[in-house]
Amino acid sequence: MPGPGYDKIGQSERSNAEDVLSTWALTRYLFADPENQSWVRRFETNISVRLDSPHAVAVNSGTSALVTALAGLGIGTGDEVIVPGYTYVASIGAIAHLGATPILAEINGTLTLDPADVAARITSRTKAIVAVHMLGAPCDLDALRTIADDNSLALVEDAAQSFGGSYKGRSLGTVGDAGAFSFNPYKVITTGEGGVALFSRYRDYYAGYAFQDQGWPPGRELGNEPDGYKPTFGLNLRMPELSAAIGCAQLDKLDEVLHEVRDARDRLLEALEVPATAHLRPSNDAAGDTGNVVVITFDEQAHAQRTATKLGSKTLDDSGRHFYANMIQLGDRAQRGALPRTDDLLERSIALSVGVSDGHLGSGYGIHPNSTNDEINAIAAEFANAVATSATISGSYA
Ligand SMILES: Cc1ncc(COP(=O)(O)O)c(C=O)c1O
Repeated sequence: MPGPGYDKIGQSERSNAEDVLSTWALTRYLFADPENQSWVRRFETNISVRLDSPHAVAVNSGTSALVTALAGLGIGTGDEVIVPGYTYVASIGAIAHLGATPILAEINGTLTLDPADVAARITSRTKAIVAVHMLGAPCDLDALRTIADDNSLALVEDAAQSFGGSYKGRSLGTVGDAGAFSFNPYKVITTGEGGVALFSRYRDYYAGYAFQDQGWPPGRELGNEPDGYKPTFGLNLRMPELSAAIGCAQLDKLDEVLHEVRDARDRLLEALEVPATAHLRPSNDAAGDTGNVVVITFDEQAHAQRTATKLGSKTLDDSGRHFYANMIQLGDRAQRGALPRTDDLLERSIALSVGVSDGHLGSGYGIHPNSTNDEINAIAAEFANAVATSATISGSYA
């Protein structure tokens, strides 16, 4: 199964979906009173409560959530937005589709944005930073928030891969001015396709809502327009009722999903022997990691690559359109060497999947939340064997 929420789809998702089918109200505006009757509105409210965010807008994908978040913050033509070179291509595409210029920045050992490199790339045109909580791990949000505040920039959290994660006790997606999540099947919980954008300010929520609903105000209720709001044409990125009904059932299972994934991750970490020539990815807040992926970074690139090959896996630079050099959309900018530290870290890192199994993410190899201790021990032994037989005493890798 792709993600841990997908694996738990069952009776409650079915009965919520049947409730939708019983009325055939497939979109929120078929209700006389969407605020109180719609599953989409209920999903937004439940997410707001669960994550402690004042404003949530459910949309039809994580990509739509990113575009909605950026548009709500007023990002557009001529603006520069700093984004890591290690992320899914959607984080970069969302910026480009609004007419803004994505400025790629380095990651650090956590495999998330390096704050010092972000600061170095700020120009007079920079308007926002997109911090991506990659592979379930929180970015250094204190440092990024300070940089954003000191330079009057917006901070957007792309938490697509980290629903339910936290940073110093605050839910990911709520520390920035806006946050974006995906509910595709590879994510913590799923609606098939779907996403949600969070906003910390009503003004930005209003603009984001209007963007995903062809210029309509929240709830299509006229009259609460914030000062200075400029009407937008917007797009139709709305979440359908069926997706939201399934999402409500999945959200009820979030704590169980996180508990099971983190428990499996901890059992794997206990069984795993990390060699002296490698280390576990450091964390900005280990308690807030969703636990979906364990990353091991080797000292030597060749050692990592040989180990990955023996496991039938790959190093993270080979994870499709999650690495800027593989994103053909970037044209000339898709060249190794543009972000040397990112290249180096990803070439030396292997992901072991725990809750999310996605070959495109380099995390196709590993365990799953229901793995028994024997299965986990077998994977740990296979890993240890691959590590040992991939290194040579002389330091060369035959
Ligand atoms: C970091 C990141 N951002 C954005 C997205 C886009 O989400 P979606 O596939 O729902 O459009 C993804 C999905 O893979 C992602 O991993």
